[in-house]
Amino acid sequence: MIDIHSHIVFGVDDGSESLEETLKMLEEAKNAGVETVFATPHFMDHVLNPDKTFDNFRVVLNKASELGVDIKLGFEVVLHPLLLRGIEIAKRHTMNKTEYILVEFPFNSSFEFSKRVLAQIRQKGLIPIVAHPERIETFIKKRGLIRELKESGCLIQVNAGSITGYYGEKARLIARKIVEEKTADFIASDAHKTGYYNRYLESYHIITGWTDEDYAQRLFKINARKLIGI
Ligand SMILES: [Fe+2]
Repeated sequence: MIDIHSHIVFGVDDGSESLEETLKMLEEAKNAGVETVFATPHFMDHVLNPDKTFDNFRVVLNKASELGVDIKLGFEVVLHPLLLRGIEIAKRHTMNKTEYILVEFPFNSSFEFSKRVLAQIRQKGLIPIVAHPERIETFIKKRGLIRELKESGCLIQVNAGSITGYYGEKARLIARKIVEEKTADFIASDAHKTGYYNRYLESYHIITGWTDEDYAQRLFKINARKLIGI
């Protein structure tokens, strides 16, 4: 399986706090059957500490290869500051240097404003992957907007924890709907600490029950292959 969203780089955002914690997360990922993990630190108007991000990423990369887990670098880019800083910066924060970019709607954001930013990102030739819309109030209030995003050319990433109910019933219901209607493109751990990969594996089995094995394979592996150049 390929996990396209995690905060596994220690000491750079609200994810892993130490190398020790990162190593435990990597073990858990491996035990859950994850072959590739995308490290996607939060990117706001700047990476909190760019040098540290790349330095710590390299440490994680080396440790992961000892464990037999492949690590790729991406970012989770918040939409609004991106517009203020200039959309060009988006091109330097894509997934594994492909045209795919993982973007996050600010919680309680204006949909129309975010949509304009997304349109600009697409005009630059990039393909936005919208992170966990099922957790954002705008989409909880109006689920049809997720389909609207999809129809405008965005891809949709759902959190494994939303499938299992970890983020509450509202997120679970939206997640179930967008999985059942096959609007979702990826399921990811969004792991911030240990314990997330149990949910990741559990969500695979739940989704197989809600839909079918073929679609589950697409969500957890096949659709993500283009992000690692397979
Ligand atoms: Fe995240």
